[in-house]
Amino acid sequence: MSEDTNPLKPEDLIGPMNTAYANFDREIERLPDISKSLEEGETHLLELRNLRIKYLGKKSELAIQKKLIRSIDRNRRGEAGSNIQTFEQTISQRIDDKERRLKNSIETTRLERESIDVTIPGRRPRPGHLHPITLMRQRIEDIFVSLGYAVEDDREIETDFYNFDALNIPEGHPARDPQDTFYTTEGFALRSQTSTVQIHAMQRRGAPVRMIAPGRVFRRDTPDPTHNPMFFQVEGLCVDRGITMGHLKGTLQEFVHRLFGPETRTRFRPSYFPFTEPSAEVDYSCFNCGGPGCRICKWSGWIELGGSGMVHPNVLRAAGVDPEVFTGFAFGLGIDRTCARIYELDDIRLLFENDVRFLEQFR
Ligand code: DAH
Repeated sequence: MSEDTNPLKPEDLIGPMNTAYANFDREIERLPDISKSLEEGETHLLELRNLRIKYLGKKSELAIQKKLIRSIDRNRRGEAGSNIQTFEQTISQRIDDKERRLKNSIETTRLERESIDVTIPGRRPRPGHLHPITLMRQRIEDIFVSLGYAVEDDREIETDFYNFDALNIPEGHPARDPQDTFYTTEGFALRSQTSTVQIHAMQRRGAPVRMIAPGRVFRRDTPDPTHNPMFFQVEGLCVDRGITMGHLKGTLQEFVHRLFGPETRTRFRPSYFPFTEPSAEVDYSCFNCGGPGCRICKWSGWIELGGSGMVHPNVLRAAGVDPEVFTGFAFGLGIDRTCARIYELDDIRLLFENDVRFLEQFR
């Protein structure tokens, strides 16, 4: 009814708009044209986007008044429409201008930030390199892998079964003494030799098996130039039908040929280990003097490689392999000891101190 009797006039729309947009000027001028940083610029852009929604969006006063155009007297509707349109254009133009200037400023800042001064001298990257023990371990692994051995990696914390019982080390043996072996508070042993992996490997793979196991071992030794409480060994195990001491000798002979050169000789000295019978210590002819004696071999012509022997039937049995069917040989070599010899280190602890000035010499 009121529409007919008292239709809206174009002027009626202007009033509420003016009120609603009274703050627009102040709000848009508050935003600078130029921002000092990229972060600041992005913040201002966001604020501007909110202004656009507030003043031109679906819920703006402008949108409300636009809808009222329909209620205006037909004759003056055009006038009202163009009034509102002019208003809308002015506001949107102001926002567009501000946005353009802000975006330009952000772009300039970004270019400045990303520009590169090609006259500054470059910083040379310092490439890392492998630790001498790792290099040595890899050389040993390569040789045995080429002979058909698998490389096993196993745990460093062991139960008494793997560290002693299964290796035929009797109760009361001195190696079991806490003075020689580290124990955790729960009674586990830090393995004192990689021979423990023989048992795991045979349990996992059964027989026949050919594997080496490089890794850390721990003993309660007082550190000195030739001892460290943590050091590296590599264990070897070959179990099959008809394996003899001849295979052991041939294998280690081949190993030292490949590691030190074809002129290298080996020497087996009778010895004792609980897990082998018979047992032997293995020496190789000095890679430096070849026999007559020098500083490196301490004037003996020979350098000790490690322990070895034919796997004791009790060890095979403990790992579930039938000693009536299978025989095998095993050996254990010191990785860091060999490393120290080759590089003529007079103190093995240098290998564990991780002094970069020392390690850098092995690139
Ligand atoms: N486990 C011995 C050690 O740590 C080395 C060793 C000797 C390993 C004889 C063997 C072996 O496999 O057959 O001194």
